[in-house]
Amino acid sequence: MGVSIAIHSYRGGTGKSTTTANLAVVLTALGLKVVAVDLDITSPGLHVIFGISSDMMKFTLNDFLYKKCYLNDILLDITSHLGLSKGKLFFIGSSMKPEEIAKLLKEGYNEYLFKEVSDELIKSYGVDIVLFDTHPGLTEDTIISVLSSELSLLLMRMDKQDITGTYITAQILRKFRKVSYVVLNMVPPKLASAPELANEVSKLVKAPVVAVIPFYEEVLSHRSRGVFVLKHPRHPFTSRIVKLAETVISLTRR
Ligand SMILES: Nc1ncnc2c1ncn2[C@@H]1O[C@H](COP(=O)(O)OP(=O)(O)OP(=O)(O)O)[C@@H](O)[C@H]1O
Ligand SMILES: [Mg+2]
Repeated sequence: MGVSIAIHSYRGGTGKSTTTANLAVVLTALGLKVVAVDLDITSPGLHVIFGISSDMMKFTLNDFLYKKCYLNDILLDITSHLGLSKGKLFFIGSSMKPEEIAKLLKEGYNEYLFKEVSDELIKSYGVDIVLFDTHPGLTEDTIISVLSSELSLLLMRMDKQDITGTYITAQILRKFRKVSYVVLNMVPPKLASAPELANEVSKLVKAPVVAVIPFYEEVLSHRSRGVFVLKHPRHPFTSRIVKLAETVISLTRR
């Protein structure tokens, strides 16, 4: 049975889209059927990392939210586009058209549909893992979309604001009986090797830290031009993402 996972963070720029894209590719390469959904509807960006142009997307999540098309119409198979030979990777993108983004901001949308999307992907399409790349923060629409998934990976940096915000986010999700796990990203390399770091941060944010990913200059200078793990299979960032993928698989089997 499949699982849906929200990749979320209290603050912006923590590496959600980077992690979603790279994790999706690694999970697919492990033979799974994966869907990466850009739920950052007001500032989509995941398509950039996957190298997907707007004309490759006939329909977007926006069309689905306004019932202009079926789920099948927004499912884009990007397995061969990314040169993956194992598993299946689909992408669901949000519109990049300014007028469509403006419409969503003005009129709102039914966030509860996201639960239907993941349920249908899992039940009717046999998807193993649905990854939702979200908009940062605690606005109502974002929290509802995070609550659409079974578990959340909360990304944070080693910054006091991130620590406080991640603690609050995990508490809110707990109130809704949602399980969240923390991923420390962009950790200063010297700090990343400290054996007690994960334990210490787990205590501070009152949620288990399941991965520590250091800051890598090469990831930053890659500048979202493609999926890093595909271009640099031997880089230590890739090994961290592979480890995270294995952890995610074990968490989904609990
Ligand atoms: N471990 C890392 N080391 C170095 N740079 C990183 C790392 N993870 C992500 N980055 C870089 O940080 C920047 C922000 O990443 P990304 O866009 O994935 O964040 P985000 O959380 O999706 O942002 P937003 O909240 O705006 O959606 C990107 O330039 C990305 O390449
Ligand atoms: Mg993002």
